[in-house]
Amino acid sequence: MNFELSEEHLAVRDAARDFAHSELLPGVIERDSEAKFPTDQVKQMGELGFMGMMVNENYNGGGMDTLSYVLAMEELSKIDASASVSMSVNNSLVCWGLEKYGTEEQKEKYLKRLATGEILGAFCLSEPEAGSDATSQRTEAKLEGNHYILNGTKNWITNGSTASVYLVIAQTNASLGHKGISVFIVEKGWEGFVIGKKEDKLGIRGSDTHSLMFTDVKVPAENRIGDEGFGFRFAMETLNGGRIGIAAQALGIAAGAYEFALAYSKERKAFGKPISQHQAIQFKLADMATTIEAARMLVYKAAVIKDQGKDYAHASAMAKLYASQVAMDVTVEAVQVHGGYGYVKEYHVERLMRDAKITQIYEGTSEIQKIVISRGILK
Ligand code: CAA
Repeated sequence: MNFELSEEHLAVRDAARDFAHSELLPGVIERDSEAKFPTDQVKQMGELGFMGMMVNENYNGGGMDTLSYVLAMEELSKIDASASVSMSVNNSLVCWGLEKYGTEEQKEKYLKRLATGEILGAFCLSEPEAGSDATSQRTEAKLEGNHYILNGTKNWITNGSTASVYLVIAQTNASLGHKGISVFIVEKGWEGFVIGKKEDKLGIRGSDTHSLMFTDVKVPAENRIGDEGFGFRFAMETLNGGRIGIAAQALGIAAGAYEFALAYSKERKAFGKPISQHQAIQFKLADMATTIEAARMLVYKAAVIKDQGKDYAHASAMAKLYASQVAMDVTVEAVQVHGGYGYVKEYHVERLMRDAKITQIYEGTSEIQKIVISRGILK
């Protein structure tokens, strides 16, 4: 087993680290406080190739592996988890499924522009009454001639107002349960498609989260991905990969908070010496470093398993389950190491603590990850 990263992987990691420090760090506190989407930074991320990292070069992607994507996600998330979730959704939840299951026409029309970050994508599965229970889709699409009529509401959609292309999951035949669910590409601006309220969130406040309403929206039949009834499997497979991205985000949030705490502990003096020289703080740093490293191993392993073409559903769920718990634990401890300074915005760790929580909720709660893991164990 080789634990060394290749030259190429190190180059991706370093490029992401440099970008995070030079472009994301300045202004991240203000964006969080004003709930402002990092428009310019996401555009730059596209120019640097971060928005379609794993897409084949024929479709304007970076042609990189999942490990490269994870390394970039980790570095960006150390500084700005709002920017990184936008990247994760575009890469994992939109580009991946379009490339794997889209028609040549769909890839030409949509994927090529998504992969460069020229436009952003959104993945629309959750509904007011279908979160964890994703089979209970109420949004419906009825075939009428050569188009579908789409009606329904989606909730908590990342890139909700900034996206141009939306992958929308909807019922095409309710009597068939999850086998009657299909997936469609919907464009912003189509008649009857309204972007609803922006959510006022605890964390990832710079991320753009909206509800979406569809009233008699005409969707051309050629915008369906795969056959009718393929939508639920499409969503589940998409989330298997998406969870690796969110696990990497959680890892980055934890590692970022740890790095802030480590630096602070060397500067801050108490009782005549830097607090890093007090065993109470050393024990915290040791626990943080150990659990982060364990999370890193699970996240990188899930990425490598995916790159090897093996079944990665339960490895990605394990990585997300564990890394998101580590993100919570480590960020809370990072605030503690900072004492009173940790509780104010200037020192970053309170933001990372708020950001950490979403990694235990989106792309499946921790309880959902346990369902996926136990199914993997028992099958
Ligand atoms: N991978 C591939 N296929 C899967 C799968 C997986 N992980 N999980 C289920 N399936 C397939 C099953 O094989 C089955 O297919 P067949 O009938 O053809 O065999 C089908 O899906 C239905 O499976 P179940 O009967 O097991 O479905 P279920 O209702 O009992 O449970 C679930 C499925 C795992 C709980 C699922 O509903 C789930 O993952 N829920 C969580 C949804 C979620 O993660 N939502 C996040 C929203 S997206 C988001 O957060 C984006 C963002 O903003 C960042």
